[in-house]
Amino acid sequence: MLSATLDKITDRLERTSLLDKPSDALAALLGRLLPAGRVGDVASGTPIGHPLHPVLVTVPIGSWVAATYLDLTGGDAKAAQRLVGLGNLAALPTALTGANDWLTTSAGERRVGLAHATLNYTALGLYVGSWLARRKGRRVKGAALAMAGAGAVGAAGWLGGHLSYALGVGVDTTAFQHFPGEWTDVGAESDLRADVPSGVEAAGVPVLLVRHQGVLMALSDRCTHRGAPLHEGEVSDGCVTCPWHGSRFALADGSVKAGPATRPQPMAEVRVVEGRVQVRRSDEPRELRTNPVGH
Ligand code: FES
Repeated sequence: MLSATLDKITDRLERTSLLDKPSDALAALLGRLLPAGRVGDVASGTPIGHPLHPVLVTVPIGSWVAATYLDLTGGDAKAAQRLVGLGNLAALPTALTGANDWLTTSAGERRVGLAHATLNYTALGLYVGSWLARRKGRRVKGAALAMAGAGAVGAAGWLGGHLSYALGVGVDTTAFQHFPGEWTDVGAESDLRADVPSGVEAAGVPVLLVRHQGVLMALSDRCTHRGAPLHEGEVSDGCVTCPWHGSRFALADGSVKAGPATRPQPMAEVRVVEGRVQVRRSDEPRELRTNPVGH
């Protein structure tokens, strides 16, 4: 079956540790080149609440596919050339956002991400060649290079799908978590100290407890970005900072104050009864989602 063969290929790719050396070297270089802070957050998609890369991807792919459609149907040659040029230009910010996301991956995700990027750069090279050939009036050669580019983009897109749908890169890591619906004991109140994060569990769901300015707050302890344990982070100025990539979440409502995270931390209701801390699910915005983990 085709899917089993493809799974074998990606499994092998995920386990190819030979890719780690070039990955590490590239990551070190990109880490120096790509801007952090506000610009880095925009590249991650923090202001729009979802990763930006999948949004930008539509522009080069749409332009390139439209150019090939014109080639195959004998459409306007100049328009086809312009579409290839537009796709080439749009590929640059798309590649930057992808590289930005890739920097916060590791192990198998990072190896697949490297292959995904390599195929995309191969495609871009072919489309640049296509544009140059068209500029010299050699449309057939330009169309052939574009077709080859489409093949590389297709393979890269399939790996991109594997990264998102099989490996969960870019997916809110709490998407299928539910805090328990009933009040659930998670520990003694006396164990909590002001502004010191504490990691507990409620019916198998990791919970971060923090007492800040006398108020007890409970959030998911799994960072929505890549799943770091937030109780290992730092609390300051009413926020918790993720220990892995530095996202900051407001303790009061879980909102993202700094990326690369794009999704807020889910909040739980919390109360103290006879010295024991209890949590339960609050009115979650995503309570109607299917197949949650936890009750
Ligand atoms: S895991 Fe990346 S910011 Fe938390």
